Amino acid sequence: MNPYRKQYRWSNVFAMIRNLKLAPKICADDFSHRLVVITGATSGIGNATAEKFAAQGADLLLINRDEKKTEQLCAQLRQQFRTNCDYIIADFSKQSDVRDAAGQLAALPRDIDVLIHNAGVYLTQKTLTQDGLEMVFQVNYLSTFILNYVLLEKFKAQNRGRILFVNSEAYRFAVWGLDFDDLLWQKRRYSGLKSYGESKLAQLLSMLVLQQAYQGSAVTVNAMHPGNVRTNSGQSNGWLYKIFKRLLVDPSALPVSVAAEALYYLGASAEVQGLSGKFFNLTTLEEPAPPALDRDAAQTLWQISLQLGGFDAK
Ligand SMILES: NC(=O)c1ccc[n+]([C@@H]2O[C@H](COP(=O)([O-])OP(=O)(O)OC[C@H]3O[C@@H](n4cnc5c(N)ncnc54)[C@H](OP(=O)(O)O)[C@@H]3O)[C@@H](O)[C@H]2O)c1
Repeated sequence: MNPYRKQYRWSNVFAMIRNLKLAPKICADDFSHRLVVITGATSGIGNATAEKFAAQGADLLLINRDEKKTEQLCAQLRQQFRTNCDYIIADFSKQSDVRDAAGQLAALPRDIDVLIHNAGVYLTQKTLTQDGLEMVFQVNYLSTFILNYVLLEKFKAQNRGRILFVNSEAYRFAVWGLDFDDLLWQKRRYSGLKSYGESKLAQLLSMLVLQQAYQGSAVTVNAMHPGNVRTNSGQSNGWLYKIFKRLLVDPSALPVSVAAEALYYLGASAEVQGLSGKFFNLTTLEEPAPPALDRDAAQTLWQISLQLGGFDAK
């Protein structure tokens, strides 16, 4: 029996459907020389968001896995927008890379104004990482956990900054919540939609704990659905998925600039100053579905993530 069945409301689903049709609010404010860290900026939403922040004057620090693409991107951003662009190379399917990247961020001599957790994958086949974990869980969730955990003290010390998760309404595929007996898909038959949904739900649950950790400080942490936008997502899947995406998903997809505008608004606008622990459908505040509000599950996940990430349990 679904543990959340009594908490589900149709009104919550209808609100989400209404919100999906709304355009993002636009922020025209300047963001000169503020430091914005973006993961997965070599393609799609991350790429468009990097361009948007650069166009508004931000200094960029990109965390990507492909050095060649990253060098080209930084060169292009410097030339086009006269912006400062630096980078760290990290593959989010390798914990050692993510820890190194987190350490470098923690040691930065300046404040991070905005940290955007964007890198993500959708896989139709179960894939294991070099660390032996299920790929989608590790790339989409565990890596963001490690970055956030290592950066807790830095953000507390700077007492300001916005942390944003590029999440997805697909967290709703995890209708029953997280399966704590099999977070890593070792026992269950793999489902691409469910594993993606669970990774995004895990992000939302970790947001609850992070928000509490930052209570009393001016650091905020929020999540957003970037819309259904046209990107390279799912390109490593088989031909059947690619045909499905090209014929059925992409025609109704929005340009990626929609997601970038929303992320700029959430990162830069004074209108969201002080809001934390919230879910935005693009820029519209939305009440999450019940599994994403489960504080007990959030604590359980936090403890498991500490173990999986090789940190001492607290
Ligand atoms: N597109 C949508 O409609 C949509 C809807 C809801 C949520 N989202 C979310 O939006 C985010 C961005 O996705 P997108 O649609 O823009 O897809 P995308 O075009 O495929 O971009 C994904 C980015 O993540 C990076 N990445 C993937 N695996 C990585 C790894 N192991 N280590 C480091 N970086 C890695 C990619 O790097 P490479 O260039 O090296 O591959 C790329 O920069 C994801 O979190 C996704 O779940 C997208």
